Amino acid sequence: MRAKIEELDMDGFGKARIGRKIIYVPFTAPGDIVEVKKWHREKRRLVAHDYEVVEPSSRRKDPRCPYFGECGGCLLQHLPYNEQIKFKEEKLHRILGFEVEVMPSPEIYGHRNRIDVVISIRGIGFRRRGTWWDVVDIERCEVFGKRSETALRALREFIEDFNLSTYNIQENKGFLRYIVLREGKFTGELMLNLVTGEGMLPKEVEDYFPFADSLYWSINRSRSDVSFGDIEMFWGNEFIREKIDDAVYLIHPNSFFQTNSYQAVNLIKETSQLIDGERVLDLYSGVGTFGVYLAKHGFAVEGIEINPFAVEMAKKNTELNGVEAEFKVGQDKDVENLGAYDTVIVDPPRAGLHPKLIKKILKEKPNTIIYISCNPKTLASNLAELSEKYSIEKAKGFDMFPHTPHVEMLVKLHLKV
Ligand SMILES: C[S@@+](CC[C@H](N)C(=O)[O-])C[C@H]1O[C@@H](n2cnc3c(N)ncnc32)[C@H](O)[C@@H]1O
Repeated sequence: MRAKIEELDMDGFGKARIGRKIIYVPFTAPGDIVEVKKWHREKRRLVAHDYEVVEPSSRRKDPRCPYFGECGGCLLQHLPYNEQIKFKEEKLHRILGFEVEVMPSPEIYGHRNRIDVVISIRGIGFRRRGTWWDVVDIERCEVFGKRSETALRALREFIEDFNLSTYNIQENKGFLRYIVLREGKFTGELMLNLVTGEGMLPKEVEDYFPFADSLYWSINRSRSDVSFGDIEMFWGNEFIREKIDDAVYLIHPNSFFQTNSYQAVNLIKETSQLIDGERVLDLYSGVGTFGVYLAKHGFAVEGIEINPFAVEMAKKNTELNGVEAEFKVGQDKDVENLGAYDTVIVDPPRAGLHPKLIKKILKEKPNTIIYISCNPKTLASNLAELSEKYSIEKAKGFDMFPHTPHVEMLVKLHLKV
């Protein structure tokens, strides 16, 4: 059945009206004419899985990646970058109810400092969009950059030379499961983490990846499809480093770091310019990305984070930068004495702020809150609750994730007088 894509929904899918149904068509642009043959239910909507773009819209451009349209990694590479930004601004307007400017990413290819590549009987690459079992075999990933090609070529040679088995996710069989690539974009340092099931990795592995500054072998003993495990061994450096402006951070296979270093610089610098006063609480502090930078820029920082390993990393980052800041293991719902800080930074996971934390903020009334959010929906509902005592002084989007529908938000809230 033939239909015109009217607009994109908030997840970046083209909406086509067929009879009384709305069919969501991935990898399409407003104005495309599509021939939709089959669709199926994905969560709460009908998604086309057999379709053709018969008349492409004038609002398209050629994607750089040859796997675009199959790979589940990028959904919007066919839109000119200014259209992607416009899409994100409209999405934020719809969710938040006010206009927000989105700052484009300084780089839109080679910007990701991390990719988690599946190693499976179906290929080495990323999940085919809409599946959990199928993989699109790739030679390189454009959003990570050219070193992905070197790493994946070496991996294929290693697998072939030692006849190693790759993972069958449906049967939970096979040895090699993932290779995670991480690169300090401002230091040039490269880390590879080979994640396997139980078994022995040939000791010659080191000879295949001489270009890596750090090579890890981790074992995931569980059935769950995750790209990390218990660390078995490493070669080369224990950490790689990334530089954000004048601060340096250590990266370890089991620690999180903002995935777009080029845009993280802008987010962190802008955050530092919005701080009021001197005493800062960095809540949900992770490896100290914000806190360490702020300590380096003269603020008195305390950080609270639930993950003990991240706190350990934040302490290492504090030391590495020769600054003083106190990072502690703790939970958002248990923080005390919020009123003692001039500014409280919150950078929660997608679920947003814990309801008990919102209550405490409203009771203890810190002057300034800086809310960094990767989920505009939970941000909107948290802002509505905080609006009882806080007004928005600034709100700005940052495109950390080009070619995807995701967008990061920075909001400064001030206590109402
Ligand atoms: C979006 S990340 C932000 C990390 C850090 N601000 C950064 O930029 O690297 C959210 C962090 O919140 C932590 N977290 C999750 N639940 C938490 C909780 N209940 N209390 C405190 N921290 C939590 C996670 O471990 C994670 O490090």
